[in-house]
Amino acid sequence: MIAGSEWRAFSKAPAVLMKYRDIEEVWTAVDRYISDLLVPSDEALDAALHSSAEAGMPAIAVSPSQGKFLMFLAQTLGARKILEIGTLGGYSAIWLARGLADGGRLITLEADAKHAKVARSNIARAGLAHVVDVRLGRALDTLPQLESDEPFDLIFIDADKPSYPEYLEWAIRLSRGGSLIVADNVVRNGAVIDKASSDPNVQGVRRFNDLLAAETRVTATAMQTVGSKGYDGFAIARRL
Ligand code: SAH
Ligand code: DHB
Ligand code: MG
Repeated sequence: MIAGSEWRAFSKAPAVLMKYRDIEEVWTAVDRYISDLLVPSDEALDAALHSSAEAGMPAIAVSPSQGKFLMFLAQTLGARKILEIGTLGGYSAIWLARGLADGGRLITLEADAKHAKVARSNIARAGLAHVVDVRLGRALDTLPQLESDEPFDLIFIDADKPSYPEYLEWAIRLSRGGSLIVADNVVRNGAVIDKASSDPNVQGVRRFNDLLAAETRVTATAMQTVGSKGYDGFAIARRL
C-alpha cells in the first residue's frame, strides 16, 4: 500500500519504468481513495462480501466503484427489468437492484448452488428479496426460460467467459432497441490482444468482442478499468 509521501517519490518514475506490481498497488490505493470518498459502503454490501469470503467463494465481485456505476446505468435507463448472468454472492445484484425503477425486477442466473444460497441470503439482508429472483442452473439452460420475461432494459454478463459468445446472442434476443448489454472482464490483464492465447477465458472474450464488432443489431465500445480488481474492462453495447 502506497502512502501519500511515498507516492511523491514514486510518481517521478515514468510509468513505463514502474514495476507492474507497483502500478497495481497505485491502482488499488487510488481505487480505495475513490471508494472511501464517493462510494461509502453499508451493512448490506459489507455483509455480502464478508459472507462470500466466509463461504470460501472467490473475491471476484465487481469493485464498489464499478457497482455504483452499474447502479447509475440502471437508474439512467429507468430500468424496470434487469438480467444478470453470474450472481456469485449477490454483490453486483444488490447494486443493480438498487438502480431499478419502482416496480422493477432483477433476474440473476447462477450455476453453483452454494453461491445461489449465499446470494439469496445477502439479497434478503439488503431488503431486496422481493425484487430479485436468483435462478439456479447453468445459464445456457435457464436463459431459454426467460423468453416470456423479455425485453430486459439492462443485461450484465459476468459468468463463465468461454460462454460469453452464446450469452451475447441471448442478451440480444432478450433485449429491445435502447437496451444496454454490459460484459465484465473483457480485457483480462491485457491478455485480450493475444490472438494466440491458449487460455479458454481469453479466447471466449476475444470471440465475444469479435461478435460484438460484427453484430449489426448493436453498437459497442469497451472501457479499460484499473483498480482493486486489477487491470480489466467492461464492454458496453447498445441495442439498436
Ligand atoms: N456478478 C458477480 C460476480 C460473478 S462471478 C459480482 O460482481 O458480484 C461469476 C459467477 O458465475 C460465479 O458465481 C459462477 O459460479 C457463475 N457461473 C459460472 N458458470 C456459470 C454458468 N454456466 N451459468 C451460470 N452461472 C455460472
Ligand atoms: C474471474 C471472473 C470474474 O467475473 C471476475 O470479475 C474476475 C475474475 C475469474 O474467473 O478469474
Ligand atoms: Mg467479473
